[in-house]
Amino acid sequence: MHDFHYVGNKLNCELVSVESLVKKFGTPLYVYSQHTLSDHFQKLDQALAPLDHLICYAMKANSNAAVMRTLSNLGGGFDVVSEGELRRVIAAGGDPRKCVFAGVGKTEQEIEFALRKGIYSFNVESEAELLRINKVAGRLNKKAPIAIRVNPNVDAGTHAKITTGTYENKFGIAFEQVEGVYARASKLKNLRLRGIQMHIGSQLTQVQPFELAVKKVLPLVTKLAKKYKFEFFSIGGGLGIVYNPALESGDSAWWKSASAKPILTPARYAETLVPMLQPLGLRILIEPGRFIVGNAGILVTRVEYVKRTGKKNFVIVDAAMNDLIRPAFYDSYHQIVPLTRNSSKATVSSDVVGPICESGDYFAKDRPLPKVGEGDFLALLSAGAYGFVMASNYNSRGTAAEILVNKNQAALVRPRQPVEEIWATESIPAWLKK
Ligand code: LLP
Repeated sequence: MHDFHYVGNKLNCELVSVESLVKKFGTPLYVYSQHTLSDHFQKLDQALAPLDHLICYAMKANSNAAVMRTLSNLGGGFDVVSEGELRRVIAAGGDPRKCVFAGVGKTEQEIEFALRKGIYSFNVESEAELLRINKVAGRLNKKAPIAIRVNPNVDAGTHAKITTGTYENKFGIAFEQVEGVYARASKLKNLRLRGIQMHIGSQLTQVQPFELAVKKVLPLVTKLAKKYKFEFFSIGGGLGIVYNPALESGDSAWWKSASAKPILTPARYAETLVPMLQPLGLRILIEPGRFIVGNAGILVTRVEYVKRTGKKNFVIVDAAMNDLIRPAFYDSYHQIVPLTRNSSKATVSSDVVGPICESGDYFAKDRPLPKVGEGDFLALLSAGAYGFVMASNYNSRGTAAEILVNKNQAALVRPRQPVEEIWATESIPAWLKK
C-alpha cells in the first residue's frame, strides 16, 4: 500500500532513512515515495485495462513537478482546474492534449489559454460557461471540445466539505436538465460535444455511491452518446484511501474519529464498474487525486517542546496548520509515528499541535503516542494529497521543503521557502514613507 516502513527502529521511505533526509534538509519536510505513486497509478491502470481508458490525475491533490512527471511518464493525463495548473502540466513535461479542465469559474483568459494549448475537454459546469466557451472558441476560430458535468444528486456519504454530487453543491448541471443543455449546446457552432462527465465527491471508501451514480446516469449517457457521437465518459475521482489502518470498520466517517479499512481497492472498484461501463463502448476517463498520492507522502516534523497543562499533554511540533491544514479544516485523521521507534509499548495521551496562534492548529487530539521529547522527530502519514498544495504563509511561515525518493536515491524537488520571499513583492506606498 505504501513504501514507508521501519527498518530496525528507523522509518524508511523506500530504501532511504527518513532521518538522514531530516539531517540534510531540516523540518518541516514533505517526503514522497516514487514507487508508491507509480504503484497506485499502475494498479488503477491495470484494473481498468478491459476498458479504453485514460487516467487524468487530479493534480490539485499534489502538483509538485516531480510528482507530475512521475505520472506523465506512466502515460497519465491531468485533471486541471486553473490556468496555473495547466501551465504546471506543461512545465512538468505533461501533455495538454491529455488534460481535462474542470471548475465552476473558468475565466475567458483561462478558456482561451486552454484552447490554444489544445486540451482534451472542458468539463462544463453551467450553461453560462458553455456560452462563454463557445464565444471564446469563435473568436479563436476553433471548435472547443466539451463535456457537461452531470450532477446525479447522489450522496457520496463523505465529509460535507468534499461532497460534490448533490443539489446542495455548486457543481455540475442537475441531472434533469442535462439533456436540454446538450440540445442547446449542439446548436452552438464552436463547440464539439466530446463527452459527458460526473464526480460525486472525495474520500469515498465504499463502491456503492459510485455504483449508484453510474447506474443512474447510464441510460442518459447511452442516449446522448448515440445522439451526439460522444467519445468519452468521465466518472470523476474520489477513491478513498486508508488514513488509519488500525481501525477495522466499515465506517467512512473518517472525519469524526478515524478512517475506514481499505474497502475500496482498485480491483473492487473495477469489478463493479467495468461491467457497467464496457457496453457503452466509450473511452472512460477517471480523475483520481488522493488515491494516487495520498499514501505516497508524509510530513516530517520536529518536537520543539512537550508541555503539560492542567488537563493535557501537548506535544508542540515545528509543522503547523499552514503546512497541513486538513486536521484543522476537516478534523481529518493522520496517523503519527516516530522516526525512531523505541521498544517500550507505553503511550501518553497527547495533543500534537503546531506553533501557530490558533487553537485549531493541531494535528491530533488525545492521541496515544509514544513518549517523545524535544528534538525527536514525528511523521504524519498519508499527507501526500491535499497537503503541500493547501499550504499557506500564515504567520509568515515559509513553505516546507519537498523530497522525492526513488529506491536509494533522494532529490530535493522543492527547497524550503526563504521567509524573505514571502514579502518580497510587497511595497510601501510613498505617502507612508517619511
Ligand atoms: N475530479 C473533480 C471534479 C474534483 O472536484 C476532485 C476533487 C477530484 C476529481 C479528485 O478527487 P480525489 O480523487 O482526490 O478524491 N481538500 C480535500 C479534498 C478536496 C477534493 C476536491 N475535488 C481534502 O483534503 O480532503
